[in-house]
Amino acid sequence: MGKGFYISKRLGLVFLVLGISAVVSILALSVIYSQEKHKNKENSTVVSTAVPSSKSPPSNKPWDKYRLPDSLSPQFYNVTLWPRLEMDERGMYFFTGTSGVAFTCLKETDLILIHSSELNYTLTPQTHHAMLTGLGGTSAPVILETWLQTQTQLMVIHLKDKLKVGKSYWLHTEFRGELSDDLEGFYRSEFVENGVKKVLATTQMQPTDARKAFPCFDEPAMKAVFHVTLLHPPETVALSNGIELGTESITINNQEVLRTRFEPTAKMSTYLLAFVVSEFTNIQSSPEADILIRIWARREAIETGQGDYALKLTFPILKFFEKYYNTTYPLSKSDQIALPDFSAGAMENWGLVTYRETSLLYNPKVSSSANKQWVAVVISHELAHMWFGNLVTMRWWNNLWLNEGFATYVSYLGADYAEPTWNIKDLMVLHELQAVFEVDALVSSHPLSSREDEIATPDQINELFDTITYSKGAMVLRMLSEFLSEPVFAKGLSNYLQQYAYDTSVYTDLWQKLQEVVDADSNVHLPASINEIMNRWILQMGYPVVTVNTHTGGISQQHFLIDSEAEVDSPSQYNYEWFVPITWMKKGVNMGQHWLLSKTATHEPMRTNSEWVLANVNVTGYFRVNYDPQNWERLLAQLSLDHKAIPVLNRGQIIDDAFNLARANIIHTTLALSMTMYLSEEREYIPWESAIKNVRYFFLMFEQSEVFGPLKMYLRGKVQPLFDHFRVITSNWTQMPSGHMDRYNQVNAISLACKTGVDGCSELTRAWYRWWMDNPDSNPIHPDLKMTVYCNAIASGGVEEWDFGWKMFKNASIAAEAMKLLFALSCTTEPWLLNRFLEYTLNSSAIKKQDASFVISYVAGNVIGQPLVWEFFRGNWEYVFKNFGGGSFLFESLIQGIAERFSTQFELQQLERFKEDYAAKGFGSGTQAMDQAIETTKANIKWVSENKKQVMDWMIKHSA
Ligand SMILES: *[C@@H]1O[C@H](CO)[C@@H](O)[C@H](O)[C@H]1NC(C)=O
Ligand SMILES: *[C@@H]1O[C@H](CO)[C@@H](O)[C@H](O)[C@H]1NC(C)=O
Ligand SMILES: *[C@@H]1O[C@H](CO)[C@@H](O)[C@H](O)[C@H]1NC(C)=O
Ligand SMILES: *[C@@H]1O[C@H](CO)[C@@H](O)[C@H](O)[C@H]1NC(C)=O
Ligand SMILES: [Zn+2]
Repeated sequence: MGKGFYISKRLGLVFLVLGISAVVSILALSVIYSQEKHKNKENSTVVSTAVPSSKSPPSNKPWDKYRLPDSLSPQFYNVTLWPRLEMDERGMYFFTGTSGVAFTCLKETDLILIHSSELNYTLTPQTHHAMLTGLGGTSAPVILETWLQTQTQLMVIHLKDKLKVGKSYWLHTEFRGELSDDLEGFYRSEFVENGVKKVLATTQMQPTDARKAFPCFDEPAMKAVFHVTLLHPPETVALSNGIELGTESITINNQEVLRTRFEPTAKMSTYLLAFVVSEFTNIQSSPEADILIRIWARREAIETGQGDYALKLTFPILKFFEKYYNTTYPLSKSDQIALPDFSAGAMENWGLVTYRETSLLYNPKVSSSANKQWVAVVISHELAHMWFGNLVTMRWWNNLWLNEGFATYVSYLGADYAEPTWNIKDLMVLHELQAVFEVDALVSSHPLSSREDEIATPDQINELFDTITYSKGAMVLRMLSEFLSEPVFAKGLSNYLQQYAYDTSVYTDLWQKLQEVVDADSNVHLPASINEIMNRWILQMGYPVVTVNTHTGGISQQHFLIDSEAEVDSPSQYNYEWFVPITWMKKGVNMGQHWLLSKTATHEPMRTNSEWVLANVNVTGYFRVNYDPQNWERLLAQLSLDHKAIPVLNRGQIIDDAFNLARANIIHTTLALSMTMYLSEEREYIPWESAIKNVRYFFLMFEQSEVFGPLKMYLRGKVQPLFDHFRVITSNWTQMPSGHMDRYNQVNAISLACKTGVDGCSELTRAWYRWWMDNPDSNPIHPDLKMTVYCNAIASGGVEEWDFGWKMFKNASIAAEAMKLLFALSCTTEPWLLNRFLEYTLNSSAIKKQDASFVISYVAGNVIGQPLVWEFFRGNWEYVFKNFGGGSFLFESLIQGIAERFSTQFELQQLERFKEDYAAKGFGSGTQAMDQAIETTKANIKWVSENKKQVMDWMIKHSA
């Protein structure tokens, strides 16, 4: 899934949050930015604590196991589904279906185990749950008994005689399921169009919910061909993975229904299936294009041109990937559909990609540059999966990181091809690398790859959709591509896709195909095999900090942990040492690459006592860098003298590394702070964003203390020139900067200027908002600036401003606009308004369920809202857990958002007591997040006690 996040499911949250907020100073607006989560995989079963032992399988019987036996192999399915878009007499939405599966027997067995969850079977009792017949003249054994094994989500069919090896059989079922609004499996979504409530039916199968739509062998390696037929009401259109073969009108029980049949799918995994029945309309590619591309959405969205941008991008991105993978697009069409209710950011169903509206629709009048970029990146991510993931699929979920890490990495390449002026590849350093570095610096992190036998239950599978999987996976693959060079990487990749097409693989298969290319290419010299190099990054958690000592030319590596006293209790076969490709430069000249293959080594050329040395050029390596104090001083001097001599990505990274090294007690906090001194000269987005992100921690820790005054004054001095710069280049705020990154940095300038009290900032945002309140039909605020302007105006306003924002939120017909308002509403400083806002999250007609956890997290990011959220969270625990506890990313980010300001013993005790009180019930997908919140709180307490005074003194000295 995507960012859609989990678009890969998880992507959804991360990118949604980042997508909206990245351009807004995270600092100034206190947006939760998503620190993802971490599991302790070393501790055998990933979520063992989340599954009470009483529920674990009571026996060793095949039907008590979560994994299917390897005795049967599906060939094809014939599936007919009929979703009802009106309630039945009992007030329930439901669907009915019939399904047949042809499977071959590979090992003699008298048991058929097939996944089925929450379906009621409607054949007569005599035929049990299913009917079995032989294919190709084979006779089928008699069914002795059938039953549903709820916990393992299986239908069990016990036969009188054994199935014969090499023979094929046909299993027929008829069933009824609920079309609920749970965003999983086959579900319904509701929205209002022209004042009329509309219902549509859609799917989200990944990872384990195809079994809620029809009985199936629901494991990624059980690939098959699917013949899909949908029955649907007149005036609706039905879509699935294959193109429609035809629609006919038929009558069933005096009821007129349409029947649409679809082209049989390619051989594919169940989790990639999709069925949608809606009244949506579409725009499509010109007939000359060799791939039929259609963008589907609500009629109004299509008619107002909101799908145009997606349509414009899809063809070039598909062409880019065809070339990059050296493999033609495997299907005859590409549908992409924007859904009003969708938990992930998007989902890469093969041929029918589903998106949140904010991930596919773009309206130049209301959507910001960040919204636009989000659309480009998510489309690119999902289309990358059409080959990597869909054509070649991971054998089991433990290899999910390869699938998602890869799509995350190449999504930037595809988006860069479609929007070449954006320099979007640079943003990987901010959005992937720096983001995951935070999580991967904890002892509770986990390796990218898990063993297959560690991942079995749906909960365990769901937990894999995390930042490590997406962002670390992406950054480790980027490092690989960089040290091999892109042509070598792409060549190995295309060989891999050709060898494993329509099949499954594991990551070592990719290493092997790459190794073959390396071995055949005399220009590539590696110090070890790809397997030896990469396993160190894949099989052990964390990453190194590389220390360069320019006095001696010595280099060394050490496992980087943000908490210097934390004990790593999971041993690594590689001893937490890596094979590190270090690119470096000396006084502005690129010095190539040096491999660090042991804990310490000497590289004579790095020795110097006069010039600055910089390692990890353009931050292509997955590691941090530390230097001897003199080299830090030389870098600092260079920054003050002429910062442009240092590449812009490295300017950002020097700041991020320095702040994190300081937090880990490796360098002084004041040294890190001094890296921000040159910012009064800096105009580029990436260094500013890196600084703001790190200074945000100072705000979280000190916003309620006496340090805040001097901190604010210091930052005001740094941001004032940036604010003035933008005022000049925008002709006194009447135009927008032309550069993509400049637009982002303009938001930083305004947000930080308002936050630190730069003259004229607050007046500027208030005036804009006031103008809008007086003229609600013509909003004067540019989409890029909306979030910060709304937020600052609501923060400095009262109930009148808030109510106006709420009214505009309820009226917003564009999701991106609604999300901005939703965020801005959390900026008020009135506790009663914040509490009222929180109460709204309990009522899904006030705030949609998919948005509620964002609201809670946003309010938690507000210094005044945070204690209110903590009360609210505990007071409404049952509801919160029931509604957000299942989908892992939402719940985790909720817990993290609530706990991130905790820095006192009292708060730690409260957190620990809360955990104890509810330990018996478990925290579901939030278990690790809960432990992590406790770990973070302890670290905060320690940090504040050690740093408060020196930060205070430094700020006073440098803010004069
Ligand atoms: C695994 O987790 C359990 C419960 O949290 C703990 O008691 C045990 O010591 C852990 N084992 C390892 C190897 O970390
Ligand atoms: C399955 O569907 C295909 C295509 O509609 C049809 O040709 C075939 O006969 C069906 N197979 C069975 C066993 O019903
Ligand atoms: C399935 O059967 C159960 C038990 O009879 C019933 O409560 C449930 O509503 C049924 N579901 C559907 C979709 O009909
Ligand atoms: C692309 O694939 C074809 C085989 O399908 C191969 O002959 C050709 O060399 C490949 N091109 C590149 C650039 O790898
Ligand atoms: Zn994905």
